[in-house]
Amino acid sequence: MGAVDIVIASNRGPVGFRRDADGSLHAARGAGGLVSGMAGLSADRATLWVCSALSDTDREVAAEAPDRRLDLAGHDTGGAVEMLPVDEATFAGAYNTISNSTLWFLHHELLDSLPANAFDDAWRRDWSSYADYNRAFADAIVEAAADEARVLVQDYHLTLLPAMLRSRRPDLRIAHFSHTPWAGPSVFETLPADIARDLLLGMLGADSVGFHSRRWAQDFFACCVAVLGAEDDGGDVRYDGRLTTVRTHPLGVDAEPLLARAAEPDVDAKRAERATEIGDRQAIVRVDRTEPSKNIVRGLAAYRELLTRFPEHRDRVVQLAVAYPSRQEVEEYRHYTHDIEELTAAINAEFETPSWTPVVVTIHDDYPLSLATLQLGDIQLINPVRDGMNLVAKEAALLSRDGVLVLSREAGAADQMGEDALLVDPFDIGATATALHEALMMPPDERARRHAGLVAAATVLSPHEWLQHQLDSLA
Ligand code: G6P
Repeated sequence: MGAVDIVIASNRGPVGFRRDADGSLHAARGAGGLVSGMAGLSADRATLWVCSALSDTDREVAAEAPDRRLDLAGHDTGGAVEMLPVDEATFAGAYNTISNSTLWFLHHELLDSLPANAFDDAWRRDWSSYADYNRAFADAIVEAAADEARVLVQDYHLTLLPAMLRSRRPDLRIAHFSHTPWAGPSVFETLPADIARDLLLGMLGADSVGFHSRRWAQDFFACCVAVLGAEDDGGDVRYDGRLTTVRTHPLGVDAEPLLARAAEPDVDAKRAERATEIGDRQAIVRVDRTEPSKNIVRGLAAYRELLTRFPEHRDRVVQLAVAYPSRQEVEEYRHYTHDIEELTAAINAEFETPSWTPVVVTIHDDYPLSLATLQLGDIQLINPVRDGMNLVAKEAALLSRDGVLVLSREAGAADQMGEDALLVDPFDIGATATALHEALMMPPDERARRHAGLVAAATVLSPHEWLQHQLDSLA
């Protein structure tokens, strides 16, 4: 038994390492809302963040660290991190196949994206890797955690971990939080029956499970009833005599560090470049990973329809998208990136003039450019098919002067921002084009009124409070 009071467990950790050509080592803060959410907490010495070593350099650094622990005092997250050097084949099966080619598409209800060989014998071998991967986390946590320590498990990569911990360390208090949606029962039951059961039983090892939206919490609850025959105990799940509470904690944005980062000189420089590209036109902007669930291709199709149906906007508008490459080991993601590029080229070929490029898509990880783009947006287009939260919607509201948000009703963020955004059905390209037109034509006083509402909604439940809610759920 160890001495750590609070353990965070997630696939992607707070920091990643890379080596430059001259051999010098650089640490970069891990991407995403999870890291900012956890940052305040892990500055406390009694916490440990257990994550996976994601690159060869991460593995190297982890191997050299005493007890595999890295002190993050010099980094903005603080605290300590233990990077698990899971072997590459196990990691590939767990991360590429089970997590990102099966569970991700399943929870986003993108069944058409499931690979053709899902659920064959090779997939079953990857399922064993997924279990081994979860076990590697269990081994590390069982050893590190103090008596009655609180363990905060994050996301679909670690669905089996709560039950593994429960059986080996019944003293631990365990929460699981999903940053994604949870599939409804009819989709969840697409999985082989034994796997569907194992996933739910894994989750029910936790004392508390959390989601960004009540809708995803209800879907999880409905799966427990449909697959396991679990009982409803006042909205919580009772199974085999144990109670697991089901809670909604919708994460908001940490305004201060975001605005401070966006005021740095590298962002100013990108903003100046962008402003030249935009000229005196209005800018429709978006920032995403190249990710099928983000629905970038239908967003482009809606833009094409806007330019076709409302020719008055031609040369008066530009779409600027920053889509940073994601999960390129997975075939569906590579195809999706290609589809984005192809449709972008087709739209430009159809409408461009010598002085106007209708759409500029940057497929590159460029954080300063992403911030500058969101700052300059007159309209933010965020139209995911289904999304746990979509923090970009909230960041965009804070960063833009008076941007109009065209938002998918299927994003968790619609729960907080739906009243002041223009909500769209992500599959309805025609309605999305109409919403873009409405946004472009919106009178200034209505823009200002809606924008004020969006900003207020974006900061509700700061990362620090959000984290506290998870800890409180284990009180
Ligand atoms: C989503 C997931 C996170 C994940 C992030 C980036 O937000 O909920 O768990 O870290 O995507 O994906 P990646 O595969 O690059 O870690």
